[in-house]
Amino acid sequence: MLVSAGPTREFVDPVRFLSNRSTGRMGFAVARAGVEAGHEVALVCGPVSIEPPSGLFALDNVVSARDMLAALEARLEWCDILVMTAAVADFRPEAPAARKIRKGEMPECLRLVPNPDILAALAPRKGDRVFVGFAAETGDAVDSAASKMRRKGLDMIVANDVTRPGAGFAVDTNEAAILTPDAPPQALPLMPKIELARIIVDRAARLADARRRP
Ligand code: CTP
Repeated sequence: MLVSAGPTREFVDPVRFLSNRSTGRMGFAVARAGVEAGHEVALVCGPVSIEPPSGLFALDNVVSARDMLAALEARLEWCDILVMTAAVADFRPEAPAARKIRKGEMPECLRLVPNPDILAALAPRKGDRVFVGFAAETGDAVDSAASKMRRKGLDMIVANDVTRPGAGFAVDTNEAAILTPDAPPQALPLMPKIELARIIVDRAARLADARRRP
Protein backbone atom coordinates (compact mmCIF):
# COMPACT_ATOMS: atom_id res chain seq x y z
CA MET A 1 0.00 0.00 0.00
CA LEU A 2 1.36 3.38 -1.05
CA VAL A 3 0.24 6.42 0.96
CA SER A 4 0.98 10.10 0.36
CA ALA A 5 0.69 12.55 3.23
CA GLY A 6 1.25 16.14 4.28
CA PRO A 7 1.52 19.35 2.30
CA THR A 8 3.98 20.24 -0.42
CA ARG A 9 6.14 23.37 -0.49
CA GLU A 10 6.67 25.49 -3.55
CA PHE A 11 9.57 27.89 -3.13
CA VAL A 12 9.42 31.59 -3.98
CA ASP A 13 13.07 32.07 -3.01
CA PRO A 14 15.41 30.03 -0.74
CA VAL A 15 13.61 31.19 2.43
CA ARG A 16 9.97 31.53 1.39
CA PHE A 17 7.42 29.10 0.07
CA LEU A 18 3.74 28.61 -0.76
CA SER A 19 2.12 25.74 1.10
CA ASN A 20 -1.08 24.83 2.94
CA ARG A 21 -2.38 23.85 6.38
CA SER A 22 -1.97 20.07 6.05
CA THR A 23 -0.09 18.53 9.01
CA GLY A 24 0.11 14.93 7.76
CA ARG A 25 -2.12 13.53 10.51
CA MET A 26 -4.72 11.87 8.24
CA GLY A 27 -2.07 10.31 6.00
CA PHE A 28 -0.04 9.05 8.94
CA ALA A 29 -3.22 7.52 10.39
CA VAL A 30 -3.88 5.73 7.07
CA ALA A 31 -0.28 4.46 7.00
CA ARG A 32 -0.56 3.27 10.61
CA ALA A 33 -3.90 1.54 9.94
CA GLY A 34 -2.30 -0.15 6.92
CA VAL A 35 0.61 -1.47 8.99
CA GLU A 36 -1.80 -2.66 11.71
CA ALA A 37 -3.84 -4.52 9.09
CA GLY A 38 -0.72 -6.37 7.91
CA HIS A 39 0.02 -4.41 4.70
CA GLU A 40 3.50 -3.41 3.60
CA VAL A 41 3.19 0.37 3.60
CA ALA A 42 5.37 2.90 1.77
CA LEU A 43 4.75 6.48 2.85
CA VAL A 44 5.63 9.47 0.66
CA CYS A 45 5.53 12.50 2.84
CA GLY A 46 5.77 16.25 2.40
CA PRO A 47 7.33 18.44 5.12
CA VAL A 48 5.58 17.76 8.46
CA SER A 49 6.54 18.02 12.11
CA ILE A 50 4.92 14.86 13.49
CA GLU A 51 6.57 11.45 13.89
CA PRO A 52 5.81 8.87 11.20
CA PRO A 53 4.21 5.60 12.31
CA SER A 54 6.54 2.68 13.02
CA GLY A 55 6.71 -0.50 10.98
CA LEU A 56 6.77 1.18 7.54
CA PHE A 57 8.24 -0.68 4.58
CA ALA A 58 9.62 2.63 3.25
CA LEU A 59 9.49 6.35 3.95
CA ASP A 60 10.27 8.91 1.24
CA ASN A 61 10.48 12.52 2.38
CA VAL A 62 9.72 15.02 -0.38
CA VAL A 63 9.26 18.77 -0.60
CA SER A 64 7.50 19.93 -3.77
CA ALA A 65 4.58 18.53 -5.78
CA ARG A 66 6.98 17.52 -8.54
CA ASP A 67 9.18 15.66 -6.00
CA MET A 68 6.07 13.90 -4.69
CA LEU A 69 5.04 12.86 -8.19
CA ALA A 70 8.53 11.45 -8.88
CA ALA A 71 8.57 9.48 -5.59
CA LEU A 72 5.09 8.04 -6.22
CA GLU A 73 5.94 7.16 -9.83
CA ALA A 74 8.97 5.25 -8.59
CA ARG A 75 6.86 3.15 -6.19
CA LEU A 76 3.64 2.76 -8.19
CA GLU A 77 4.50 -0.61 -9.81
CA TRP A 78 5.12 -2.05 -6.35
CA CYS A 79 1.70 -1.21 -4.86
CA ASP A 80 -1.82 -2.60 -5.13
CA ILE A 81 -3.48 0.37 -3.38
CA LEU A 82 -2.64 4.08 -3.55
CA VAL A 83 -4.16 6.39 -0.94
CA MET A 84 -3.56 10.07 -1.79
CA THR A 85 -4.15 12.01 1.40
CA ALA A 86 -1.50 14.62 0.52
CA ALA A 87 -2.59 18.22 0.13
CA VAL A 88 -0.65 18.84 -3.06
CA ALA A 89 -0.06 22.51 -3.93
CA ASP A 90 -1.87 23.13 -7.20
CA PHE A 91 0.47 25.89 -8.33
CA ARG A 92 4.05 27.03 -7.88
CA PRO A 93 5.99 30.22 -8.58
CA GLU A 94 7.03 30.25 -12.22
CA ALA A 95 10.57 31.46 -11.56
CA PRO A 96 11.80 30.97 -7.97
CA ALA A 97 14.60 33.42 -7.12
CA ALA A 98 18.03 31.88 -6.53
CA ARG A 99 18.73 34.41 -3.72
CA LYS A 100 16.51 35.82 -0.99
CA ILE A 101 14.32 38.58 -2.36
CA ARG A 102 15.11 41.77 -0.37
CA LYS A 103 12.41 44.08 0.99
CA GLY A 104 13.37 46.74 -1.51
CA GLU A 105 13.10 44.29 -4.43
CA MET A 106 9.52 43.16 -3.75
CA PRO A 107 7.98 42.07 -7.04
CA GLU A 108 4.61 43.63 -7.81
CA CYS A 109 3.13 40.25 -8.54
CA LEU A 110 4.07 36.61 -8.26
CA ARG A 111 3.58 34.62 -11.46
CA LEU A 112 2.30 31.11 -10.80
CA VAL A 113 2.19 28.05 -13.02
CA PRO A 114 0.14 24.87 -12.46
CA ASN A 115 1.69 21.87 -10.78
CA PRO A 116 1.02 18.41 -12.18
CA ASP A 117 -2.14 16.72 -10.96
CA ILE A 118 -0.50 13.67 -9.42
CA LEU A 119 -3.53 11.35 -9.60
CA ALA A 120 -4.10 12.32 -13.23
CA ALA A 121 -0.42 11.77 -14.04
CA LEU A 122 -0.46 8.29 -12.47
CA ALA A 123 -3.83 7.30 -14.00
CA PRO A 124 -2.42 5.82 -17.24
CA ARG A 125 -0.41 3.30 -15.16
CA LYS A 126 -3.26 2.49 -12.76
CA GLY A 127 -4.08 -0.98 -14.13
CA ASP A 128 -5.90 -3.04 -11.46
CA ARG A 129 -4.66 -0.85 -8.64
CA VAL A 130 -7.15 0.70 -6.24
CA PHE A 131 -6.82 4.51 -6.19
CA VAL A 132 -8.27 6.35 -3.20
CA GLY A 133 -8.44 10.16 -3.16
CA PHE A 134 -9.29 12.70 -0.50
CA ALA A 135 -11.30 15.83 -1.05
CA ALA A 136 -10.85 18.61 1.48
CA GLU A 137 -13.69 20.96 0.70
CA THR A 138 -15.13 24.14 2.17
CA GLY A 139 -18.86 23.35 1.90
CA ASP A 140 -20.70 21.00 -0.55
CA ALA A 141 -18.14 18.30 0.26
CA VAL A 142 -20.07 15.30 -1.05
CA ASP A 143 -21.11 16.84 -4.39
CA SER A 144 -17.64 18.23 -5.14
CA ALA A 145 -16.00 14.98 -4.10
CA ALA A 146 -18.32 12.94 -6.34
CA SER A 147 -17.34 14.97 -9.38
CA LYS A 148 -13.63 14.75 -8.44
CA MET A 149 -13.94 10.96 -8.11
CA ARG A 150 -15.40 10.73 -11.63
CA ARG A 151 -12.98 13.23 -13.14
CA LYS A 152 -9.93 11.49 -11.64
CA GLY A 153 -11.21 7.93 -12.28
CA LEU A 154 -10.93 6.99 -8.59
CA ASP A 155 -12.26 3.84 -6.92
CA MET A 156 -13.04 5.71 -3.71
CA ILE A 157 -12.91 9.27 -2.41
CA VAL A 158 -13.08 10.49 1.16
CA ALA A 159 -14.90 13.80 1.38
CA ASN A 160 -14.66 16.16 4.27
CA ASP A 161 -15.68 19.73 4.93
CA VAL A 162 -12.59 21.22 6.56
CA THR A 163 -14.57 24.15 7.94
CA ARG A 164 -16.61 21.91 10.31
CA PRO A 165 -15.49 21.79 13.96
CA GLY A 166 -13.37 18.69 14.64
CA ALA A 167 -12.71 18.05 10.94
CA GLY A 168 -9.81 19.01 8.73
CA PHE A 169 -6.38 20.36 9.59
CA ALA A 170 -4.29 19.94 12.75
CA VAL A 171 -6.90 17.99 14.74
CA ASP A 172 -6.96 14.29 15.60
CA THR A 173 -10.59 13.79 14.56
CA ASN A 174 -12.41 13.93 11.25
CA GLU A 175 -15.97 13.82 9.97
CA ALA A 176 -16.11 12.41 6.48
CA ALA A 177 -18.18 10.65 3.88
CA ILE A 178 -16.86 7.77 1.80
CA LEU A 179 -17.90 7.70 -1.83
CA THR A 180 -17.49 4.91 -4.37
CA PRO A 181 -18.70 5.03 -7.98
CA ASP A 182 -21.52 2.50 -7.57
CA ALA A 183 -22.97 3.02 -4.07
CA PRO A 184 -24.65 5.90 -2.23
CA PRO A 185 -22.26 8.05 -0.12
CA GLN A 186 -21.58 6.65 3.35
CA ALA A 187 -21.67 9.54 5.83
CA LEU A 188 -19.59 8.76 8.92
CA PRO A 189 -19.84 10.47 12.30
CA LEU A 190 -17.06 12.54 13.86
CA MET A 191 -14.37 10.08 14.94
CA PRO A 192 -10.62 9.88 15.63
CA LYS A 193 -8.58 9.98 12.40
CA ILE A 194 -7.15 6.53 13.19
CA GLU A 195 -10.66 5.04 13.24
CA LEU A 196 -11.56 6.68 9.94
CA ALA A 197 -8.23 5.43 8.57
CA ARG A 198 -9.06 1.84 9.58
CA ILE A 199 -12.39 2.05 7.73
CA ILE A 200 -10.67 3.42 4.60
CA VAL A 201 -7.94 0.76 4.66
CA ASP A 202 -10.49 -2.00 5.17
CA ARG A 203 -12.68 -0.83 2.27
CA ALA A 204 -9.71 -0.31 -0.05
CA ALA A 205 -8.33 -3.77 0.80
CA ARG A 206 -11.71 -5.37 0.01
CA LEU A 207 -11.74 -3.67 -3.39
CA ALA A 208 -8.18 -4.84 -4.07
CA ASP A 209 -9.06 -8.41 -2.99
CA ALA A 210 -12.13 -8.46 -5.24
CA ARG A 211 -9.91 -7.52 -8.21
CA ARG A 212 -7.41 -10.27 -7.45
CA ARG A 213 -10.15 -12.95 -7.48
CA PRO A 214 -10.45 -14.67 -10.87
N1 CTP B 1 -4.26 15.78 -5.93
C1 CTP B 1 -3.27 15.37 -6.80
N2 CTP B 1 -2.51 16.32 -7.44
C2 CTP B 1 -2.77 17.63 -7.27
C3 CTP B 1 -3.80 18.06 -6.42
C4 CTP B 1 -4.53 17.11 -5.74
O1 CTP B 1 -3.07 14.17 -6.97
N3 CTP B 1 -2.01 18.54 -7.94
C5 CTP B 1 -5.05 14.75 -5.23
C6 CTP B 1 -5.14 14.93 -3.73
O2 CTP B 1 -4.10 14.24 -3.04
C7 CTP B 1 -6.50 14.34 -3.40
C8 CTP B 1 -7.32 14.61 -4.67
O3 CTP B 1 -6.38 14.83 -5.72
O4 CTP B 1 -6.45 12.96 -3.19
C9 CTP B 1 -8.25 15.78 -4.57
O5 CTP B 1 -7.50 16.91 -4.19
P1 CTP B 1 -8.15 18.35 -4.12
O6 CTP B 1 -7.11 19.35 -3.73
O7 CTP B 1 -9.41 18.28 -3.27
O8 CTP B 1 -8.63 18.55 -5.63
P2 CTP B 1 -8.03 19.32 -6.85
O9 CTP B 1 -7.76 18.31 -7.92
O10 CTP B 1 -6.87 20.17 -6.43
O11 CTP B 1 -9.27 20.20 -7.32
P3 CTP B 1 -9.77 21.67 -6.82
O12 CTP B 1 -8.55 22.51 -6.66
O13 CTP B 1 -10.64 22.08 -7.94
O14 CTP B 1 -10.53 21.46 -5.53
